[in-house]
Amino acid sequence: MDPAEFRRAGHRLVEWIADYLEHSDRYPVLSRARPGEIRAALPQSAPETGEPFDRIFEDFERIVLPGITHWNHPGFMAYFAITGSGPGVLAEFLSAALNAQGMLWRTSPSVTELEEVALGWLRQLIGLPPAFEGVIYDTASVSSTHALASAREAKIPGVRELGLPGRADLPRLRVYCSEHAHSSIDKGVILLGLGHTALRRIPADDQFRMLPAALHQAIRDDKAAGFLPMAVVATVGTTSTTSVDPVPAIADIAEAEGLWLHVDAAYAGVAAMIPEYRHILEGCDRADSLVVNPHKWLFTPFDLSAFFCRRMDVLRHAFSLTPEYLRTVETAPVRNLMDTGVQLGRRFRALKLWMILRHFGAAGLRARLAEHMRLARLFAGWVDTHPDFERVAPVPFSVVCFRAKPTGREWTEADLETLNQELLDSINNKGDVFLSHTKLDGRFVLRLAIGHLGTTEHHVRLAWDELTGGLPALCR
Ligand SMILES: Cc1ncc(COP(=O)(O)O)c(C=O)c1O
Repeated sequence: MDPAEFRRAGHRLVEWIADYLEHSDRYPVLSRARPGEIRAALPQSAPETGEPFDRIFEDFERIVLPGITHWNHPGFMAYFAITGSGPGVLAEFLSAALNAQGMLWRTSPSVTELEEVALGWLRQLIGLPPAFEGVIYDTASVSSTHALASAREAKIPGVRELGLPGRADLPRLRVYCSEHAHSSIDKGVILLGLGHTALRRIPADDQFRMLPAALHQAIRDDKAAGFLPMAVVATVGTTSTTSVDPVPAIADIAEAEGLWLHVDAAYAGVAAMIPEYRHILEGCDRADSLVVNPHKWLFTPFDLSAFFCRRMDVLRHAFSLTPEYLRTVETAPVRNLMDTGVQLGRRFRALKLWMILRHFGAAGLRARLAEHMRLARLFAGWVDTHPDFERVAPVPFSVVCFRAKPTGREWTEADLETLNQELLDSINNKGDVFLSHTKLDGRFVLRLAIGHLGTTEHHVRLAWDELTGGLPALCR
């Protein structure tokens, strides 16, 4: 692209993005595209000759945009709602322009050192001690997989050299997590060659928190049956209900049994920045590793997962490998990011975290997180006082689990599921707000998640009005 065209297209794009960030609620949140529609509207092969940017952009608006579900929309309240904030978007521009690759300190000292600084700031903000060294990965799934790989490294002598298959000296391994832990833990266990059955899910109490006594019993039973317990994963902010496992009690057990303790705080960990929420990470100073995702609830454009580890030497032992062509000699010891994980190349994700922390400031971040939690409590209060709705889980953070259960009639679980699914579809199809669902103890449940910076009381009220307004027609 010649510089003049870049300048012109760039100005146009910046204008478009500024407008989008301000008015994304112009679009229906949930894409109305039918399966295959976007693909069918595009040519089957690449153009032989290059095309001007304006024409490409026309197709972006005409074909691609209708196939976008607008996560960066104040009405997006599904899954975990997120924000690609202005400073984060600008940082991504810069990062793409620099195209810096931080595999080695030498290949861009700022990529390595800004990552150290930004993660150090984040660590202090959430109250983890300095013994935790940080590294940025793309997602919590990858962070947790690295945690489990480190646990395997710590537990199994010679695993790096000999692997697992065919070793008569090794019993079957076990990893423990609650029945509400995220599926990324299953995938980590599968990827590491432990076999899916190595993951044992521990029952939770009536507030969806892992039962430590059940964990300890499971470990004892497994040992008696010849298994080798390897790691336990506690969750601070489970995916369905955002429940917080009792980490101090789990840490006691992990210590007593010699297990690696990993804490998945992907969504809720950032709330520990707020003094009244500091307790949610109680006991995490005793964990071996912890993940928190700025791309979930810290206004960071996808993707950026912060992995903190108290035993990074173990992780380095598992993954560092330096071929001659990557050997460097520096005037002082340096960190090379390629040593802390599977991937060699590292993109400059720290830039956006650093810019976001500076742009909002700690007080600004705390205020926004607190406001999201206030909005969630407000919505929960409406649910609690409406005769035709019920709340089905506590609201520790910014997610509300609830369902319609109209009075004046006996409902079977199957009928309630149909009713709530229809209600969900009807409001999502309107396009103003987008909610999702989960199942709790076999019950189909709606979830309203607040996490977008543009979401205000108006949007939460809109969701509630559409839910309560849509219900009578479905009950006829
Ligand atoms: C508790 C928890 N852990 C991990 C993940 C996986 O996150 P990622 O998409 O960053 O892999 C999620 C996703 O929602 C989650 O809720």
